[in-house]
Amino acid sequence: VDKYVDIDSSYPQIKQAADLLNKNEVIAFPTETVYGLGGNAKSDEAIAKIFAAKGRPSDNPLIIHIAKQEQLAELVKEVPEKAEQLMEAFWPGALTIIFQLKEGALSKLATAGLNTVGIRMPDHPVALKLLELANLPIAAPSANTSGKPSPTTALHVTEDLDSVIAGIVDGGPTGVGVESTVIDCTDSVPVILRPGGVSQEDIEKVIGEVMLDKALVNKDSAPKSPGMKYTHYAPNAPLYLVQAPKERIQELVAEERRNGKKAGVLTTEENKDYYQADYIFVCGKRTDLSTVAANLYDGLRSFNHSDVDIIFAEVFPYEGVGHAIMNRLMKAASHQVID
Ligand code: TXA
Ligand code: MG
Repeated sequence: VDKYVDIDSSYPQIKQAADLLNKNEVIAFPTETVYGLGGNAKSDEAIAKIFAAKGRPSDNPLIIHIAKQEQLAELVKEVPEKAEQLMEAFWPGALTIIFQLKEGALSKLATAGLNTVGIRMPDHPVALKLLELANLPIAAPSANTSGKPSPTTALHVTEDLDSVIAGIVDGGPTGVGVESTVIDCTDSVPVILRPGGVSQEDIEKVIGEVMLDKALVNKDSAPKSPGMKYTHYAPNAPLYLVQAPKERIQELVAEERRNGKKAGVLTTEENKDYYQADYIFVCGKRTDLSTVAANLYDGLRSFNHSDVDIIFAEVFPYEGVGHAIMNRLMKAASHQVID
């Protein structure tokens, strides 16, 4: 993944985007996780545009992006010690921290009327420059149509939102490829609400034991993060996760093809040459799960440009960013797993 971004040559574009944000327009911009759809987090007008562009349910709060830690003081009631340690260790980076919201600091639409707020400082030169020039807290959900996989390239953003937003700052492919980890620090024991770019293992090295929201462990529990209850990431063709060796996946593919169906496989470098299927997407290497995360959403989107009737996906270990990968794949598959 090419993460190099030349700030000097893209400066005019970034400046223009910052000016649009100050006029309460909404624009897409790159972060290290996925592209965000940014708007002035203090403005009801701007936030209403974000929800409308995405078709997002209004009870699902947005993440607020900042360029400097000093901006926190005007947004949150208090900064718990563990949150302080997390910011020190992981900001700028793929970690969103939930704080108690300072009343009146932001548009109520942005926080969906909750008394808490999720905040992060993205680790991307374009995002940081944009936030600095805009000089505002910027609300930014992923820049996709609600329910689709999050965008990891500017092209993905255009596929979904081209005609309904004021602009896109193109910073190339994003890098991490899955969204930030969301951790609630408003209770004494922090709770991970969404697995993401920063792993539970790495978080626990810094602040000790954390909990996982019940909904991440048991799919029938109601999630504490409003966004986690919605279906998400699903390609048009049904997707099945196959918790079995590649031989079983090939059998499943062969059976579909005998029945006149076209079958696709989401696989890895290690296994790709083994399959005979109608469409094969290689998302990365099993020996480095960060490569799988980086290409996962491009892979899920790419099936919609193929003509497959059904998709079989390999599974990944629940280690490091593997938690986030499996969380997104389970949603994309509506929890349909074949043993
Ligand atoms: O990596 C990311 O986090 C990307 C980039 C653009 O920064 N943004 C992103 O935003 O993924 P979005 O809106 O697609 O996801 C935000 C998630 C949702 O699941 C939402 O419910 C949760 O964060 N969230 C936001 N504020 C919350 C709060 N106060 N309490 C609980 N969950 C919250
Ligand atoms: Mg999203």
